[in-house]
Amino acid sequence: MLAMNYRGPKRVRIDQKPIPEILHPEDAIVRVVRSCICGSDLHLYNGNVPDTRVGSTFGHEFVGIVEEIGSDVHKLKVGDKVIVPFNISCGRCAFCKQELYGNCHESNSQATAVGAIFGYSHTAGGYNGGQAEYVRVPYADVGPTIIPEGMDWDDAVLLTDVVPTGYQAAEMAGIQKGDTVVIFGAGPIGIMAARCSWLFGAGRVIIIDKEDYRLEFARNYSQCEAYNFMDMEDPVVFVKKTTDWMGADVCIDAVGAEAAGNVLQTITGRKLLLQAGSATALHWAINSVKKGGIVSIVGVYGPTDNLVPIGNVVNKGITIRANQASVKRLLPRLIDHVQNGIIKPKQLITHRVPLEEVADAYRMFSEKLDNCIKPVLIPPSAHE
Ligand SMILES: NC(=O)c1ccc[n+]([C@@H]2O[C@H](COP(=O)([O-])OP(=O)(O)OC[C@H]3O[C@@H](n4cnc5c(N)ncnc54)[C@H](O)[C@@H]3O)[C@@H](O)[C@H]2O)c1
Ligand SMILES: [Zn+2]
Ligand SMILES: [Zn+2]
Repeated sequence: MLAMNYRGPKRVRIDQKPIPEILHPEDAIVRVVRSCICGSDLHLYNGNVPDTRVGSTFGHEFVGIVEEIGSDVHKLKVGDKVIVPFNISCGRCAFCKQELYGNCHESNSQATAVGAIFGYSHTAGGYNGGQAEYVRVPYADVGPTIIPEGMDWDDAVLLTDVVPTGYQAAEMAGIQKGDTVVIFGAGPIGIMAARCSWLFGAGRVIIIDKEDYRLEFARNYSQCEAYNFMDMEDPVVFVKKTTDWMGADVCIDAVGAEAAGNVLQTITGRKLLLQAGSATALHWAINSVKKGGIVSIVGVYGPTDNLVPIGNVVNKGITIRANQASVKRLLPRLIDHVQNGIIKPKQLITHRVPLEEVADAYRMFSEKLDNCIKPVLIPPSAHE
């Protein structure tokens, strides 16, 4: 089959690989119809995630058709069209039982901090991902969810990560009616978090990034205010000033460890690797939220340390909430929202790229070329 193949930092290519096989009775093999490239893949692509092995296939956002099932799979049958959450979860451990499906204790034998994620290095379990024609899906009775009648593939594929993560960012922010929400990052996740903030009763939503085309997209799609931090002397002062010097009620970090905007963070985090990436957006979020406010983090940070202003967290009485999205927990209500037209995920898709051109797609998404918001990869075998 064709599959994306990681060759080292900023080097990916398309290759032939063996079609995966059932390795455990609870596995299924899924034929991929759509897969996406995510901001999270850029951390791998840039070589910033420990134990990202040459030869691995990325891709944690995919939908497809069940091709084969193991002898212990009972809820799926061959031919089912499925949304596959990006988290791999066993459904039985203490954390899965609390619906913390992103924090499964069983699926990742390589670490205790992070659960397993498709195509996300050996730190996240060492499973191959969906930027390929076929994927092996473990615990197939737990994650995969049948795509409802009438929902198209493009909407479905964004339910594997972008919609639940954006929604959970807003949910964790504990937004109260009328709150001012400031979101750092206008990638697909920040844009979705801005859209979902209104659903929780926000009174004002502000998004901050450095890419004008993304800010313009957010203004239209999320109906929010959007500002470029390159035009600001200090984003923290900007937020304070626009909130009568109180600070935002809640701030969302939808950037993570590859943030731009601060030379010290960039040099120590992204060039010298003295910390696990640059925590610039998190820094700004902590410093621009009001006293007693909430900072919600969905931007990804590595397992090692980051320079963050923890003293300000204590002195301002800030609550920090963070996690990988629990996709399975959120799917029922988000499928409803998509079917009722409250969230329109596929409008985020700006590029539809043949899987064979995966290397170009990575370059375009990574370098923010051609006004790219979200690229979707289509395998040659994606016929129905
Ligand atoms: N927690 C989860 O479950 C989960 C799921 C998906 C993605 N993520 C993470 O969310 C983050 C965003 O994902 P994405 O797909 O939108 O990525 P993306 O790379 O497309 O977007 C990130 C945006 O942040 C902007 N940015 C850079 N520095 C900034 C700063 N200092 N302040 C404000 N904006 C800044 C960039 O210009 C870019 O537009 C990534 O870290 C990704 O790994 C987390
Ligand atoms: Zn993703
Ligand atoms: Zn589990």
